[in-house]
Amino acid sequence: PSRFDFYIIAAHPNQPSTDMTAHLIDGKQIATDTQAHIKERVTALSARGINPGLAVILVGDNPASHVYVSNKVKSCGVVGMHSVLEQYPADLSETKLLERIHALNIDPSIHGILVQLPLPAHINEHAVLEAISPIKDVDGFHLINAGALMTGQPRLRACTPYGVMKMLEHSGTEIRGAHAVVIGASNIVGKPMALMLLQAGATITVCNSKTRDLAHHTRQADIIVAAVGRAKFITGDMVKAGAVVIDVGMNRDENGKLCGDVDFESVSKVAGAVSPVPGGVGPMTITMLLMNTLEAAEKYA
Ligand code: GUN
Repeated sequence: PSRFDFYIIAAHPNQPSTDMTAHLIDGKQIATDTQAHIKERVTALSARGINPGLAVILVGDNPASHVYVSNKVKSCGVVGMHSVLEQYPADLSETKLLERIHALNIDPSIHGILVQLPLPAHINEHAVLEAISPIKDVDGFHLINAGALMTGQPRLRACTPYGVMKMLEHSGTEIRGAHAVVIGASNIVGKPMALMLLQAGATITVCNSKTRDLAHHTRQADIIVAAVGRAKFITGDMVKAGAVVIDVGMNRDENGKLCGDVDFESVSKVAGAVSPVPGGVGPMTITMLLMNTLEAAEKYA
């Protein structure tokens, strides 16, 4: 048994456990423990007169974005960090948004800046992300941070794939030499995920929405990271026996219930380990945002 066995629980509390064979990768528990560790480091840093601070900017009224940013701000409180939420109407000009970012770049009480995506169509997303100081870019989306990851010298890392790496680590999954299949090639998840797995020694296949015979690829995988954005898209017949499956999806099923990209019921009968939705990647994404803000304050304040 590895020291990580604590994070694997035998059955999903919301699922009939009768023929489920996969271990459950308990993202919520890993997040809780990691946040306790972050809190200790925040306390130590505060004793030296530096209280880590996160600024979150939300433009417009996308309901999902509202939920995400309020969870991010709330979590700062849990670990004793300072946070500010700036909300602007959908018709905010790009110039005004850039002015706010420049002000936060030089604000000594702020160590992390996050602009929630998506932005309204009239605002150039790339221009906004490049305006954030790379040392405060806690999303890891700035070209400098994306390039640092690509050249194998990661600085601030994208939160979701960073969280997935921690989940794999805590579940005792061997990444070196494994074949990892990443489904989805976005800048937020798929691309940085592939680079982090590559850096850790995996052989990578990156699939996208146009991939022919997706199941042919997924069946080769020792590790599957599903970031497709389609409810219950990955089914048990697409998974090799014993594979580790991480579900990045956040969808609604036919009954309006929150579900992932992975069909938990069929996949949990063949996989070696699987992460649930909710309670998997979601809490880890927020936790790694807190970790990035802490690291930005420790390194750059
Ligand atoms: N929208 C969806 N995911 C993310 C994320 O990780 N960061 C930001 N800023 N916006 C998002």
